[in-house]
Amino acid sequence: MSQSKKEPLKFAYWVPNVSGGLVISSVEQRTDWGIDYNRKLAQIAEQSGFEYALSQIRFTAGYGADNQHESVSFSHALLAATEKLRVIAAVLPGPWNPALLAKQISTISHLTNGRVDVNIVSGWFRGEFAAIGEPWLDHDERYRRSEEFIRAIRGIWTEDVYNLRGDFYRFTDYSMKPKPIGGIPQVFQGGSSRAARDMAARVSDWYFTNGNTPEGLKAQVDDIRAKEKAFGKTWRTKIGMNAFGIVRSSEKEAQDVLQEILDKAIPEAVKGFHHEVQNAGNASPEREGNWAKSTFQDLVQYNDGFRSNLIGTPEQVAERIIGHKRAGADLILLGFLHFQEEVEYFGKHVLPIVRELEAIEDQRLEAAE
Ligand SMILES: Cc1cc2nc3c(=O)[nH]c(=O)nc-3n(C[C@H](O)[C@H](O)[C@H](O)COP(=O)(O)O)c2cc1C
Repeated sequence: MSQSKKEPLKFAYWVPNVSGGLVISSVEQRTDWGIDYNRKLAQIAEQSGFEYALSQIRFTAGYGADNQHESVSFSHALLAATEKLRVIAAVLPGPWNPALLAKQISTISHLTNGRVDVNIVSGWFRGEFAAIGEPWLDHDERYRRSEEFIRAIRGIWTEDVYNLRGDFYRFTDYSMKPKPIGGIPQVFQGGSSRAARDMAARVSDWYFTNGNTPEGLKAQVDDIRAKEKAFGKTWRTKIGMNAFGIVRSSEKEAQDVLQEILDKAIPEAVKGFHHEVQNAGNASPEREGNWAKSTFQDLVQYNDGFRSNLIGTPEQVAERIIGHKRAGADLILLGFLHFQEEVEYFGKHVLPIVRELEAIEDQRLEAAE
């Protein structure tokens, strides 16, 4: 068992900076996409044991998400309202170029004591690119561009004088100052296709994937570990998996909430979303990826969050989280129906059990060594 397995799991929550919540359903969601709600949520989260918040980047409406605040500026506002939370700003290569992002993030790191990170996403929403006049590259080309983008921002942040002759970006003796403080911002990425795993195993610090079973997650982790070796990567890619948490005092109560979400799903919107996400992994040469196997039920939560099965009592959910850790997760990313209440509940009732189980697991591993 690797040393890193013994590190405590990290927890992140999705910043609801997009309207409509995290499920495509008319179920009641006491979640607001505005800044006042989000500032308070970020403060609750850092007091409840969450280490990270992940913002979303969307440029236009789709499937209930009628309003979308921009991710980098919104992330900065949340950092300004908190003291220890790290906020991961989502960024799409194409609309962003690496020079602008490297500069923005470096400045934000100075303003916030080095607590900002980035999530480089490669795009699934073709209609959004059309709406803003951005060329839509083929699936694997999007990843080639994202990889070059990541190499560029890291190069700008770390090298005194940066040069690149890439297929997408060019830099000539670029010396960006000041460099970020508090270490180099961590680079996360989203996706599950072969191209996404290749990119993770070459350049990213973190691989974010959709909700899954421990077996489904482990297959991806094994592949990334093999690729890291083949590519000669010198650091270990960390793994983050999405989940939609429904934690209640009884299993029946939690299952009833899931059923209500599904009963009130908005079929046209779920189908529309399904149609759009075919531009993601299904458009790759291997026809696999984030949503390749998603059922109607999975798609009611944007990133297959029900599949991770964090639905039940605090004890059941904590046990399953440990199962995901054994499968290779370093971080669990959570969405909820009622974010402020449920982030607090999760911190109070689930996290202490996770930490107890982790301590038992560590003892077991030590005894086996
Ligand atoms: C945790 C997570 C967060 C994501 N956040 C965004 C986002 O904010 N905006 C966006 O356009 N795509 C986002 N994506 C989508 C990915 O960038 C990518 O397009 C999608 O996962 C399909 O990838 P694949 O075809 O390689 O499987 C996210 C994906 C994951 C797993």
